[in-house]
Amino acid sequence: MKFFIDTANLGQIKEAQELGVLDGVTTNPSLMAKEGITGKDNILKHYVDICNIVDGDVSAEVIATDFANMVKEGEELAELHEQIVVKLPMIADGVKACKYFSDKGIRTNVTLVFSAGQALLAAKAGASYVSPFLGRLDDISTDGLNLIAEIRQIYDNYAFETEILAASIRHTMHVIDCAKIGADVMTGPLSSIEGLLKHPLTDIGLAKFLADYKKGN
Ligand code: E4P
Repeated sequence: MKFFIDTANLGQIKEAQELGVLDGVTTNPSLMAKEGITGKDNILKHYVDICNIVDGDVSAEVIATDFANMVKEGEELAELHEQIVVKLPMIADGVKACKYFSDKGIRTNVTLVFSAGQALLAAKAGASYVSPFLGRLDDISTDGLNLIAEIRQIYDNYAFETEILAASIRHTMHVIDCAKIGADVMTGPLSSIEGLLKHPLTDIGLAKFLADYKKGN
């Protein structure tokens, strides 16, 4: 399972990279705005800064919602750095743009996916990644994990190569549940990754080992 961090915060990206388990970064316009990154030039520079920290794929989302401008914007993003994956919304023009980029060998991440049918379309259009939003489905009392399982089954049935990028992960149990289902990638906050570290018996066991060592030395 690949681990992506879902943030535009350079400090958190560095921290996750230093842990040694980071495979990539996902961003979106809201995450950029949260870090105060505004204006086209600043946004493009920020993507390059992220690419220079992480060894892996960096999803950069287009703002355009029509095919022609999605293509223009996506090409500009893809030229920024070889690690950039063009992130496209799951709308008709996004599917067309996904097919266009996939034919050109430019990698894509189809985002804002909330149904198995949308995920099937993204795979048909040759998406590199599909991003089902697990947490946002849970927020409206719908079973987000069930969607991940449905997509896994459909992709396996037809050997689609599109990777399932479980997005909108909110906590550590989401990561574990997605791993059990067989999602290819998770993207979530740093806390969802760091939570995997924690177990009280580890802390108690380590404290005892160190105390016993001190007694004998
Ligand atoms: C996916 O790529 C999105 O950036 C993200 O996972 C959305 O998560 P949220 O629902 O926590 O905003």
